[in-house]
Amino acid sequence: MILVVGGAGYIGSHLVEKLIKRNEVVVLDNLSTGHEDAVDPSAVFFKGDLGNESDLEAVFSKYPIKAVMHFAANSLVGESVVDPLKYYENNVASTLKLLRVMLKYNVKNFIFSSTAATYGIPEVEIIGEDSRTQPINPYGQSKLMVENILADFAVAYDLRYVVLRYFNAAGASESGKIGEMHDPETHLIPIILQHLLGQREQISVFGDDYDTPDGTCIRDYIHVKDLANAHIAALDSLLNEQNKTAIYNLGNGQGYSVKEVIDTCEKVTGKKANVVIAERRAGDPARLVASAEKIRQALGWKAERKLEEIISSAWKWHQSVK
Ligand code: UFG
Repeated sequence: MILVVGGAGYIGSHLVEKLIKRNEVVVLDNLSTGHEDAVDPSAVFFKGDLGNESDLEAVFSKYPIKAVMHFAANSLVGESVVDPLKYYENNVASTLKLLRVMLKYNVKNFIFSSTAATYGIPEVEIIGEDSRTQPINPYGQSKLMVENILADFAVAYDLRYVVLRYFNAAGASESGKIGEMHDPETHLIPIILQHLLGQREQISVFGDDYDTPDGTCIRDYIHVKDLANAHIAALDSLLNEQNKTAIYNLGNGQGYSVKEVIDTCEKVTGKKANVVIAERRAGDPARLVASAEKIRQALGWKAERKLEEIISSAWKWHQSVK
């Protein structure tokens, strides 16, 4: 059985939808940001908190867990700057509790959701896994701390792990059942689509004076379904003992500026956006674009879906939940 912690969240629920077709799955989620109805009904759902060791004990003592996939975290760059305590408590301290209980039950396979925010302001145009990691916000810092903890645990306790550093996750499931639903929403693509559906007055572009061709920030958007496939490949690499420890970037290898994302949303939806230029948002690097060559070579995974397809799937979903 595979334990998916945070399996009711945006990325976790997409992984569960895929994983359940081949493995038994138990989902642990405190529903602080996740949605129980996003969890595939074939999975066992357990409402509980990572920070609460008795909830963890209840799951590990009941089910024969062979691997843990850990999605449960706070993940907003801007919020982490104003409330770092929340990030270090939920993302670092609670993960330590999870690892402690895993080791107690001799569960040694771990897939960890990390982030491009671990790189900070990159020194290179296309970021490889061996690029310098120097986060510029507490969110990225909290994820890098866990990565370092995992490296020490691998040596001391024989933990086997894969760290997946996501770039910008977006898009929705083809099933139409699950998509991106945060409250409040802060992410660019859902905000644009909500505006184009008439749910927001305008779109604010956070800074147009960055050192990029059109002055707006560049990001590497990756479809949640591609992310889900990468997790399955990573899980298999641990279970078939191909990997003991590994760190992989998950991205498309192609960057789009905020303005380009808005243009593509207009093209996909056939609607015109009302855009205003606002102040820069704290903690935003100008450009984050992945090299995903390492995982392609090691596990044969690559992102299949480009920006237009990501936006079309998200648009379909947003219209359905209108
Ligand atoms: N942006 C706007 N206006 C908005 C919302 C966002 O201009 O209303 C801009 C942001 O400033 C940024 C870009 O759009 O330049 C993307 O912003 P998102 O909030 O969608 O995503 P982030 O890049 O801030 O962060 C996301 C995840 C993080 C992860 C990071 C990795 O939320 O968890 O991608 O690249 F670390």
